[in-house]
Amino acid sequence: MSSTAGPVAIKRRVIAVSIAAALGGFLFGFDTAVINGAVDALAGDVSGFDLGTALKGFAVSSALIGCAVGAWFAGPVSNKYGRIPVMVVAAAMFFISAIGSGLAFSVVDLIIWRVVGGLGVGAASVIAPAYIAEVSPAAVRGRLGSLQQLAIVTGIFAALLSDALLAGLAGAADQPLWGLTAWRWMFMVAAIPALVYGLMSLRLPESPRYLVRKGELKRAAEVLETVTGTVDVQGKIDEITGTIDTERSESLRDLRGNRLGLKPIVWIGILLSVFQQFVGINVIFYYSTTLWQSVGFDESSALLTSVITSVTNIVVTIVAILLVDKIGRRIMLLVGSVGMTVTLGLMAVAFSFGTLDAQGTATLPDPWATIALVCANGFVVFFGASWGPLVWVLLGEIFPNSIRAGALAVAAAAQWVANFFISTTFPAFAEIGLTFAYGFYAFFALLSFFFVFFKVPETKGKELEDMTENMKVQRRRGPQPT
Ligand code: GLC
Repeated sequence: MSSTAGPVAIKRRVIAVSIAAALGGFLFGFDTAVINGAVDALAGDVSGFDLGTALKGFAVSSALIGCAVGAWFAGPVSNKYGRIPVMVVAAAMFFISAIGSGLAFSVVDLIIWRVVGGLGVGAASVIAPAYIAEVSPAAVRGRLGSLQQLAIVTGIFAALLSDALLAGLAGAADQPLWGLTAWRWMFMVAAIPALVYGLMSLRLPESPRYLVRKGELKRAAEVLETVTGTVDVQGKIDEITGTIDTERSESLRDLRGNRLGLKPIVWIGILLSVFQQFVGINVIFYYSTTLWQSVGFDESSALLTSVITSVTNIVVTIVAILLVDKIGRRIMLLVGSVGMTVTLGLMAVAFSFGTLDAQGTATLPDPWATIALVCANGFVVFFGASWGPLVWVLLGEIFPNSIRAGALAVAAAAQWVANFFISTTFPAFAEIGLTFAYGFYAFFALLSFFFVFFKVPETKGKELEDMTENMKVQRRRGPQPT
């Protein structure tokens, strides 16, 4: 395999490039999680903010709408101007949003800055997997693609930790710290990784697939040779050219097909995204404090448990990174679906034994409290080792070169809409009953098994040039020669 046989120095460079690209994932995780520590403080803040319940929900979820819009536009824009400029603009949006949210003087102002940050998160969620897949050699592409998820979960952890530390320093999130209220620092901290991301992006080489598409063959050859270590550079360029219809317009119209208006592979991407969200993972991350309180923890141990859950998520993502290029995507997703169905199903059963107190908080008697606790963490383990990283890996690699950026943008936008739906409906679902909520997620976990079994192709070790618009499911396929 020419593209993997490069010297150690080249491999290191691929890894460095991918880590730099995945930094967008860190900001993605940080930005979506940071609001949790800050939002309650906003309600009673000494600086005069007062969020009603509805506005509070919107302050949390408005960023997700920005994410969907940012993801949607990142595809066409990156086809036109390149992958790197999109990273730089996303970094700038993260930076402005961090400072703007921290200094916001009204709720509307805060929501506007959260949406701006969301645009950056959405764009980063499209560009990181596309870029990583496009610069990585096939044999380690899954591993490098999973770095994005590692960056996301590290970002979630960093946000929870920094929220806790700042609240600790100030005494509480709504207390003054260094001349401002603590929650303001919670947002502003993100300006540092945003700056690092922007500066690192400026030094990254442009994606060779994008360069070939633009006819910049000399620059493409340079990247293929020095970054990915391709031996037969000309052969590779010819191969990429063969899979790119340069005459086509670069618009979302390219995604159209006969089946329900879109190409089948685009539907597969959209459904992977929707299932990843409909199993309810972000309910665990966004509403964890409520969940842990219902199994009998007080508020501070509930917060600590959330931090522990996010560490669990980091550890299992590392396991996934070690396994993905060895055992393949399909089998990992299938095992993940089974594990999630069982753990979510047991949580639904456990909550049927809950009792409600006067405030409407559910409390579970033993052994159901223990079962719910073990299953919630078990669910994070199964998700984190499968659907969490693998959906992002697959979205980077399943689409043919000619439609990758656009198709990935549509699938990622669908993911943000699904995330918005699940996180905004949870309070209403919980009012019907937590058994209903977890039963709903368990049902989608079960459906996800059949979806993967019948529809998702194996991409392990395949070259991006081998991805076609009508890929059939392949159970096993070894690395392809280039
Ligand atoms: C995936 C999901 C994201 C979620 C994260 C949790 O990256 O796309 O929505 O927050 O996993 O691990």
